[in-house]
Amino acid sequence: MVSEPRNAAAQVLVASNRGPVSYSVGEDGELTAKRGGGGLVSGLSAIGDEADALWVCAALGEGDREAVRRGVGEPGVRMLDIDAGSREGVHAAAYNGVANSVLWFVHHMLYQTPLEPAFGPEFREQWEAYETYNRAFAEALAAEAAPGAAVLVQDYHLTLVPGMLRELRDDVRIGHFSHTPWAPADYFRMLPDDVAEQVLRGMLGADRLGFLTGRWADAFTECCVRMLGGTSGTRIGVHGLGADADFLRERSRRDDVEERMATLREQVGEGRRTIVRVDRTELSKNIVRGMQAYRELLRTRPEWRERVVHVAFAYPSRQDLAVYREYTAEVSRVAESINAEFGTEGWTPVLLHVDDDFARSLAAYRLADVALVNPIRDGMNLVAKEVPVVSDEGCALVLSREAGAFEELGEDAIPVNPYDVTATAEALHAGLSMPVGERAERTKRLAAAATALPPARWFLDQLHALTGARS
Ligand code: F6P
Repeated sequence: MVSEPRNAAAQVLVASNRGPVSYSVGEDGELTAKRGGGGLVSGLSAIGDEADALWVCAALGEGDREAVRRGVGEPGVRMLDIDAGSREGVHAAAYNGVANSVLWFVHHMLYQTPLEPAFGPEFREQWEAYETYNRAFAEALAAEAAPGAAVLVQDYHLTLVPGMLRELRDDVRIGHFSHTPWAPADYFRMLPDDVAEQVLRGMLGADRLGFLTGRWADAFTECCVRMLGGTSGTRIGVHGLGADADFLRERSRRDDVEERMATLREQVGEGRRTIVRVDRTELSKNIVRGMQAYRELLRTRPEWRERVVHVAFAYPSRQDLAVYREYTAEVSRVAESINAEFGTEGWTPVLLHVDDDFARSLAAYRLADVALVNPIRDGMNLVAKEVPVVSDEGCALVLSREAGAFEELGEDAIPVNPYDVTATAEALHAGLSMPVGERAERTKRLAAAATALPPARWFLDQLHALTGARS
């Protein structure tokens, strides 16, 4: 059914599960709004306030839902309470059950396949919720888009939206961007056939699909060719999101960052080197093997004992899922066991922080001697791009060849196979031993490559490519 737009005015619409703002309810019942950052936020701000832009996102927590109930909202943002009415539990089933436990696992190849996945009736119920949740977005976008508007749909949460929106509104231009890797066809085919087909056909409802690297775009095309016979004329583009140099350089020189540098220096201890990692605690980030590699370094190269500290910031993520909670606990256990094995009176080999503090992350970036970025698989990985931009004296980058960022940074990084703990230990040694001059030179080149496509241009390029897509 093709419906006419209702008094709708937005010319540019972004749709994503997590929006640019979140709400919390204080003890006094007052709502407090917190604005987030990231590529999309700065990208969208690049089109200017005068443009009629609207960000459609889901209400995630109780504060968000309360804001929707009270009709509180930021200009340019429409939050959808997917669970309102009789749809209780739909968001959790779609987000935790399908998006994070299935699609994320498929694209990052995280299953322990002898036992999982096992798609049965529970999955089918969750899949229905995923369809309902995608339909709620498609309907909201159809209602809000001005005639001929550009709609930019984000990520694996919303793969069905392009196809559903196309059925409702034939006049709008639809883009979809994947911030994750895309699974190789053999792995993607683990999904039940009809579900795999629905995902691909849903995305192909877009005029144009965007990916972070050529590798992920090719994997998607391969899935379409093998499962559907082709991509049905949908255009595919690659936009490698870069770091926001201006923002990072200014933000990382503020007083709060300086203060945290002083604290970190004290915790690390005079004259010691640092191996820094900063991640959300996602299974794909490979934090545990990173620590195992550090342990191997201390075992096999005792000359580094007392002379280096592994500064690991592992910020909680998706704690509704038991497997994430277990992984978070495992990270702490491994850190403690390394400290128990090697720690001395004045030296704590692993400094693990789990409370999210952006200023402290920037402080760690600035003083890192080695940055360890060793994901099993990653769409891009912005930490790998941010560290060289803010580093004070140059930093050796140990980088997984399975991170999207490797396509742009591989030449000046120290490459690692993320599963090879021994090779990662050797890479850490190489990073720690890199002459200061070489480190600084490489960091300069890494920073240039990392900032080649700043968020604003990344977003505008997609928008322009989309609006030209049908002409
Ligand atoms: O980093 C990849 C990504 O898909 C982002 O695009 C997205 O914002 C995030 O992961 C989703 O994470 P969360 O479940 O915390 O919203």
